[in-house]
Amino acid sequence: MDRRPVYHELAGQLVALLDGERDLVANAANMAALIYHGLRDLNWAGFYFARDGELVLGPFQGKPACVRIAWGKGVCGSAASRGVSIVVPDVHEFPGHIACDAISRSELVVPLLSGGWVVGVLDLDSPRLARFDEADRAGCERLVAILLAHHRDWP
Ligand code: SME
Repeated sequence: MDRRPVYHELAGQLVALLDGERDLVANAANMAALIYHGLRDLNWAGFYFARDGELVLGPFQGKPACVRIAWGKGVCGSAASRGVSIVVPDVHEFPGHIACDAISRSELVVPLLSGGWVVGVLDLDSPRLARFDEADRAGCERLVAILLAHHRDWP
C-alpha cells in the first residue's frame, strides 16, 4: 500500500495543529498524538530531547518508557550521534537496542536537526516486524521538518 497519501494528510494536520502555538512541549505532545493515532500498528510514538549530552524522554504516546538514553546507545542514541534516520526492521537484530516495551519488533528513529545540532529524536515503535519502510522514513522526516521550521528558536 502506498503510504505517501497518509503522510500528506498528516503533514496538513500537523501544520494546522501548530498554527499560532509557540510552546514546544504542547506542539511535540500533539504531534506525538497525531502520529500515534494516524499510523497503523504502532505501540509507541514520541520524542527524546538532547539534554547535557544525553537523550531525555519528551512528550509521547504509548507505555511509560526509558527516561534517559546515552548518546550513541540504542537506536535513538545511534540516530542522534550519526545525525541520520535509522529504520530497524527487526529490533532483535540491532546491537544495543534498548527494549522499553518487549512487544516492540521494529523501529524508526528520525533525528531533529536544528542549526546543525541534533536537538532530539522522533521515535516510532511497532509490534510488527519490518513495519517501517522508506516511505515512512521520508514521511516522518517531512513531519519533523515541519516541527523544526515552526520552532527555529529551539530552546
Ligand atoms: N528502543 C529505543 C529506546 C526508546 S523506546 O523504544 C521508547 C532505542 O533502542 O533507542
